Amino acid sequence: MTATPELSTPPEIGGIGHSVLRQEDDRLIEGQGDFLDDLVLPGMLHMAIHRSPVAHARIRGIDTEAASAVEGVVAVVTGELMAAHNLAWMPTLSGDTQAVLATDKVRYQGQEVAAVIATDPYIAADAATLIEVDYEMLPAVTGPQQSLSADAPVIRDEKEGQTDNLVYTWSSGDAEATDAAFARAAKVVSLETFYPRSHPAPLETCGIVADVNSVTGQATVYLTSQAPHAHRTLFALVAGLPEQKIRIISPDIGGGFGNKVPIYPGYVVATAASLLLGTPVKWIESRSDNLISTGFGRDYHMRGELALDDDGRILALRADVLSDQGAFYSDAQPSNFRAGLFHVVTGSYDFGAAHVTCKGAFTNKAPGGVAYRCSFRITEASYLIERLVQNAAYEIGMDPAEFRLLNFIRSDQFPYTTPTGFVYDSGDYHTAMRKAMDEVGYTELRATQAAAREEGRLIGIGVAHFTEAVGAGPSRTYDIAGLKMFDSAELRVHPTGKAILKLGVKTQGQGHETTFAQIVASELGIPVTDIKVVHGDTDNTPYGLGTYASRSTPTSGAATSMVSRKLADKARKIAAHLLEAAEADIDLAAGVFSVRGTPERSVTIQDVAFAAYTNMPEGLEHGLEGSSYYDPPNLTFPYGSYIVVVEVDPETGVWKVERMVALDDCGVRINPMIVEGQIHGGLTEGFAKSSMQWITFDDDGNCIGSNFMDYLVPTAWETPRFELLETCVPSPHHPIGAKGVGESATVGSPAAYVNAVIDALAHLGVRNIDMPVLPDRVWDAIQSAS
Ligand code: CDP
Repeated sequence: MTATPELSTPPEIGGIGHSVLRQEDDRLIEGQGDFLDDLVLPGMLHMAIHRSPVAHARIRGIDTEAASAVEGVVAVVTGELMAAHNLAWMPTLSGDTQAVLATDKVRYQGQEVAAVIATDPYIAADAATLIEVDYEMLPAVTGPQQSLSADAPVIRDEKEGQTDNLVYTWSSGDAEATDAAFARAAKVVSLETFYPRSHPAPLETCGIVADVNSVTGQATVYLTSQAPHAHRTLFALVAGLPEQKIRIISPDIGGGFGNKVPIYPGYVVATAASLLLGTPVKWIESRSDNLISTGFGRDYHMRGELALDDDGRILALRADVLSDQGAFYSDAQPSNFRAGLFHVVTGSYDFGAAHVTCKGAFTNKAPGGVAYRCSFRITEASYLIERLVQNAAYEIGMDPAEFRLLNFIRSDQFPYTTPTGFVYDSGDYHTAMRKAMDEVGYTELRATQAAAREEGRLIGIGVAHFTEAVGAGPSRTYDIAGLKMFDSAELRVHPTGKAILKLGVKTQGQGHETTFAQIVASELGIPVTDIKVVHGDTDNTPYGLGTYASRSTPTSGAATSMVSRKLADKARKIAAHLLEAAEADIDLAAGVFSVRGTPERSVTIQDVAFAAYTNMPEGLEHGLEGSSYYDPPNLTFPYGSYIVVVEVDPETGVWKVERMVALDDCGVRINPMIVEGQIHGGLTEGFAKSSMQWITFDDDGNCIGSNFMDYLVPTAWETPRFELLETCVPSPHHPIGAKGVGESATVGSPAAYVNAVIDALAHLGVRNIDMPVLPDRVWDAIQSAS
């Protein structure tokens, strides 16, 4: 199927397929949002963190006297005090430990060393600068290659049995079959590339207001959290607080993008301080705190090799990855997969063998590796295979789009098992690619490119086709820190036919208050505007693993369908009672229950809701409410074909995007407008990564990229115009056929932009320019080629 299915509800109900305006936006754009820093509680104190200015040093002593003497300072907290409460270290989501406040050593610039609690945020920040730490400097290790060399200092020397800086070695696929395929290959193509460290940089930084009642022990924690339920359980386990006395409220957090999944030391210190002082304590990061010290993404050094036969068909893939994990291993990855889902690196292609190895290394950098606007490490994987495939096409003299069409998994091969064990649910890659090629005018463009070359102009046409794996669970395979990855929804229809839907996931701006209401509207015919969607409050929503890695729609969205269907079943019984007909004869369409054959005999969902509280048939419980916990049978696999056209200035290396055609297939689109917004965001981010954005470090471990002057966030001025297309191959196992889409464009587009620049220079023999593709790098490539 390649067209969006027909709408089942009229616009006034606004179910699946309608571009309903975002219900949350009036509140958000009129200044009525409820962000963390807006929160003021009576008697609230403020916390500021003193961070290490150096990357690696032993702590000889900490002098807090001057800070403590400042008027308005209530307490200064050090690691020693935290240690007295057994809280100097905390477990990470990946089974490592992380210092809450440093006691023995600092291991990266920006690490938390002490905290000041004061009556005013500025007093706290000023006093934090007065803390004096006596450091004995140690050599900084700023790259994973250096870190794994024999003479590197051991960064995690506090860990029993740790004698080097290796975090893990993990592999997937069949090494023997892969070796055999390489042995019989007609050609082997290789690429060594680096996906630099980058940062989610949400609009609102991370923060907490901890309010622990010293009498009742009730801890109400307002937290910038993408996963409030999981965080509540982990808080209970770490702090030993009874879970029923912890309520986590995640308000209108201004974006997450993976940054708000980990638990940060500031959260733990603020909660401990509130517990000890008996007053609410607020901590919110500065922009630099956020950029230097919280969950980074990427930082993958990758080498890939493709084995090809005589006809240009891929036989096998070998990939070796070296991951820079920073000083603590604190990724939020599913436990079974230490390098995330990197083994989806076989991409959209049909071949028999693959072997992937990944090593993680500790370095003197902030801990990183969050699922930054992608499903766990899939952006890196997609980037590697798409760059490799492009180069393979050049090496055998085939057009890169034709090479992909030759090697794609065919639509009749789905469900398709990849050589690393994923089962792709559905797809039609050939149709997607051809549609994108038609839209951009691919054949003519190649002719234009050739003619332009004659005039010394450098036009490049970059292609990327990606397959993403989103929607984790299923719970039998996927868990984070032992918590199984299912998700939930709870729905209650009130007597007047209005409804409240409570979600296990947590919106950070993706429009869940609209799209999830649309699912209910489609199933029950209750208008979207009559449905209130609640999320982010653990006392008032069912348990769920949260929103990241495009999992909300495939998991909690599915649970929303399932609970709506449960209510529809009960509603049908009530309608049969009201219509004095047999339940089996009742049809439901767009909120109207009618008797089959005599459609004029009907009642509405609103009539049924009223009857659920006033006129129930004998033997049926009152009320119209229920909940569903949905454990998906598989991931869903959205995909897309992207084509970018650039022109490179041969004199300066500056490149400009002339066209960006992006075709996405996320199955059934609940809200086409919201999906397009998600894609625009991802394409913009892909453009930023490929052209301007990275975080790097000098040899001493000083972070370069600690503010928005160094870490560039694209504006509307430089962002290209996007031309969006779609196909629709529904997910066969999802109740409404939707696949997640939230992150796809970030996954697919960086390779498309970079491939476009490389394509402009491919005839000169250029095969690689690392991201970000800065003009000087392009210019260097041109110079060394000529
Ligand atoms: O987990 P997250 O919400 O970030 O990702 P998602 O489930 O892919 O959804 C992103 C937004 O797009 C949500 O508002 C979804 O409901 C919406 N969406 C949609 O309207 N149709 C789809 N097929 C997929 C997502």
